[in-house]
Amino acid sequence: MTQSSVACVILAAGKGSRMKSDLPKVLHPLAGRPMIGHVLDTVATLVPERTVVVVGPGMEDVSAAVAPVPTVVQTRQLGTADAVRAAAPVLAGFAGDVLVLYGDTPLIRPETLARMLAARREAADPAVVVLGMTPADPGAYGRLIVSPAGILERIVEYLDANDRERAVTLCNAGLMAFDGRRLFELLDHVDNANKKQEYYLTDGVGIARRLGYACSVAEAPVDEVLGVNDRAELAEAERLIQQRLRRTAMDNGTTLTDPHSVFFSIDTRLGRDTTIGPNVVFGPGVTVGDRVEIRAFCHLEQVRVADGAVIGPFARLRPGTDIGPGAHVGNFVEIKNAQVAAGAKVNHLTYIGDAVIGARANIGAGTITCNYDGFAKHRTEIGAGAFIGSNASLVAPVRIGDGAIVGAGSVVTFDVEADALSVARGRQQNRPGWAARFRAGPKG
Ligand code: UD1
Ligand code: MG
Repeated sequence: MTQSSVACVILAAGKGSRMKSDLPKVLHPLAGRPMIGHVLDTVATLVPERTVVVVGPGMEDVSAAVAPVPTVVQTRQLGTADAVRAAAPVLAGFAGDVLVLYGDTPLIRPETLARMLAARREAADPAVVVLGMTPADPGAYGRLIVSPAGILERIVEYLDANDRERAVTLCNAGLMAFDGRRLFELLDHVDNANKKQEYYLTDGVGIARRLGYACSVAEAPVDEVLGVNDRAELAEAERLIQQRLRRTAMDNGTTLTDPHSVFFSIDTRLGRDTTIGPNVVFGPGVTVGDRVEIRAFCHLEQVRVADGAVIGPFARLRPGTDIGPGAHVGNFVEIKNAQVAAGAKVNHLTYIGDAVIGARANIGAGTITCNYDGFAKHRTEIGAGAFIGSNASLVAPVRIGDGAIVGAGSVVTFDVEADALSVARGRQQNRPGWAARFRAGPKG
């Protein structure tokens, strides 16, 4: 075992009752990914030798969500020290650094974890490194009691603290790094003689000091250690993560006209010199190329948009959509599970579903692919260079050949060969003078 190996224990056994939800707290999404997924992504940057999530009884959906990362069940929630003890089988024989994180503290950054581990490896060889913070309102956080000589002596939980201790502003953010060779020795000494009658992991610090080990503090920016306990804190965490994602998008060369009204998913990929207008929402799984323009009020989810395309305003791109280079998708257009090839135009008031649209095809205003017959979905294929007149209904399954023209207002129910004209609508009749006679009435 080298001195640099890391194991991560993520505590998530809490019921999260303040969320008032049927979904376990750590599965609530932030930027389109469950909270615990953010924590797992962050710890993965440390390439830990072992990672384990501690869940409560009946939290099988959390176990399924974190797989292949293993979970252990803490049978009764007797406190944070008891939760770490539940992870003992996974940590057996591990002598590296053990990092304890919370599943409901999803904004922690890799750099901060790296700083904690660096502090763990300092010459004093601290048995415990605690992540500290100085929030504007220290509220009910545990307080870090540091001696005049600057040594972390103990952590006192708010409920157990006296007035002098409560006046301390340096608080426990919750994350801790332990020397794996000492962790269970410390835990063996933890009791529940406190106000909550819980086994506090935080007691590990005072115990370490009594046993003669060093302890130290690594500090974190407050916005990384926000704990999510209710829906208001969930919204605050979402706000902070969106702020980061907007900043990253701009740093990578994307223009956001109004950053505050653009919402990303954690996996949104954007190219250089792409411009995103106001009020655009990116659901999960969106990749956008270079020099794309996404105008105001668009909604995209599981979509690829190639270089130079123009989308919106007011376009909705649904899962399985692939927009080709230089294609245009305009206002009030909904596209689902469809490939729109290079240079094609779908500009106005249209629904395209389960379809292929060939290169440079032009889809007229109000075109509808009638993809659903009440039982099953069917495909529409529109060839390269085809021209679909306004207000056409293409009843799938149907193919429009390359270069074909479909007359406006047609209801197309069978295939149209390449370069043909298809007109499928009532023939026009004009009756001279009929309207005037009608207005004059029966006596006229
Ligand atoms: C804890 C710290 C406190 C710190 C605060 C930061 C302790 C004793 N106190 O308090 O010093 O300021 O976090 O947010 O650690 N959990 C389990 N099993 C349990 C109990 C808790 O898995 O038996 C999990 C919870 O799901 C949660 C985390 O541990 O993710 C923290 O528990 P919580 O009850 O929120 O601790 P706090 O009282 O907030
Ligand atoms: Mg808490």
